Amino acid sequence: MKSVVKALLILAGIGLTVGLVLFFVITSRGISARAEPGAFETTVARTMRSFAVPRGERDRSNPVAYSDEVFGEGKAHWADHCAACHANDGSGETAIGLGMYPKPPDMRLPETQSLSDGELFHIIENGIRLTGMPAWGDGTPETATGSWHLVHFIRALPRLTPEDLEEMEVLNPRSAQEVRDELEMQRFLEGGGDPPRKPQPTHKHGG
Ligand code: HEC
Repeated sequence: MKSVVKALLILAGIGLTVGLVLFFVITSRGISARAEPGAFETTVARTMRSFAVPRGERDRSNPVAYSDEVFGEGKAHWADHCAACHANDGSGETAIGLGMYPKPPDMRLPETQSLSDGELFHIIENGIRLTGMPAWGDGTPETATGSWHLVHFIRALPRLTPEDLEEMEVLNPRSAQEVRDELEMQRFLEGGGDPPRKPQPTHKHGG
């Protein structure tokens, strides 16, 4: 009995020491979203996430047949809703994506491409807790179909053409000011209207 109490006290002591060391490390260095999660953290997080997708759902294959039209739908949807974090090409290299912890992965790589259709669908519909990945589904068949289109589009990320990317740039969300500047420039180039004002300084972070 005595030895059990002794062992418990030693364990409590170790726990307290680890806690204190962590506390001092965190309070002296802070926690930055710029850091890159280590291989161990990434593996544990991805494994846990995989367990969190119900088996029946993970094994589903895409019920929507692939066609050029489906690809086009997915592309437009991605450019509008996903590219702010994931970039048009799926690399995740955007101002927002690079500043997140965890960062959006490069979805052209095998780590993402090896996820099942059902797993990709589940992630799009339900999001990923404690990360920046939002849930996009609302339980209706319409959004579910949109998510299956996106699954087809994600599969196509590794082979997007420069024309696809150009088309997507037009579809990326713009501020009213950007639209005005573009129209003014277009009118000037077509020979009408005054020369455009000095371009509005684009707001930059970290530059
Ligand atoms: C606000 C930023 C943000 C937006 C917008 C966003 N995502 Fe994400 N997404 C993330 C982050 C961050 C991760 C990484 C989460 C992690 O590491 O578990 C992620 C992960 C994913 C993954 C899992 C990839 C993998 O290999 O782990 C999929 C699939 C995905 N996103 C699809 C989408 C789709 C489709 C859209 C648009 C409908 C979208 N995301 C919009 C931030 C975003």
